[in-house]
Amino acid sequence: MYTTKDLPKITTHVLQEMKLKGEKIAMLTGYDFSMARLLDESGIDVILVGDSASNVMAGHKTTLPITIDQMIYHASSVMRAVKRALVVVDLPFGSYQGNSKEALNTSIRIMKESGCNAIKMEGGQEIKESIDRILSAGIPVLGHLGLTPQSINKFGTYIVRATEDEEAKKLRSDAKILEDSGCFGIVLEKIPAPLAAEVTRSIKIPTIGIGAGKDVDGQVLVSHDMLGINQDFSPRFLRRYHNLHDEMIRSFHAYIHDVKSAEFPNDREQY
Ligand code: KIV
Repeated sequence: MYTTKDLPKITTHVLQEMKLKGEKIAMLTGYDFSMARLLDESGIDVILVGDSASNVMAGHKTTLPITIDQMIYHASSVMRAVKRALVVVDLPFGSYQGNSKEALNTSIRIMKESGCNAIKMEGGQEIKESIDRILSAGIPVLGHLGLTPQSINKFGTYIVRATEDEEAKKLRSDAKILEDSGCFGIVLEKIPAPLAAEVTRSIKIPTIGIGAGKDVDGQVLVSHDMLGINQDFSPRFLRRYHNLHDEMIRSFHAYIHDVKSAEFPNDREQY
């Protein structure tokens, strides 16, 4: 069992060393204090305060509605809990696509107000200027290629990306651009495993896959999905480690029963 006791604080340099040593990087999403404390205690390497909070925490259909203020709220809650993991925060949709100055201002706000360690943004060539500007301000950037959920209205579907030659070619080129710009890693979402493996071999920075096969430098999943809290999302890449949905429902049922039957509280549970 992993504990955080003897493990080093994770920095972007540690992730780079892990790639060199062939040690896989474990990343999960976290949006609140309690979950982040559990994740950090477990020894997770990276906590992603993903804009998937828009779906998971707020119940939106896409990641698009979440705001900068809401991301800062989630990120600050996570930062209060974390001692060891590297905390990366998504720049939300509409907060960086306008121009590089806007992208820099958003990144500075998120880092200053939450205390996070790095930011993540979706895209390649199109956002290069913004990435350069953010990096030159000393803010580490994690790239994100393949299925980029902020572009769902352009794609129209969440199916596997880069299966056609032209899109695969652009992805290879974007990965190189992100590496050359100085990103410390790249999330590869829902692309063919052989393409993810090829990109991983071709660049020196770590790749972190979600639905990108095993030959990448690390993996990321949405915590609520892998815990089985959320049952209405079952892509092939999702491994469920628990069925918390059913366990929680059982516990809530038991509580409701105990309250209604006046079995809770008992004599020892009162003052
Ligand atoms: O927002 C998120 O949770 C993500 C991961 C799925 C990579 O971007």
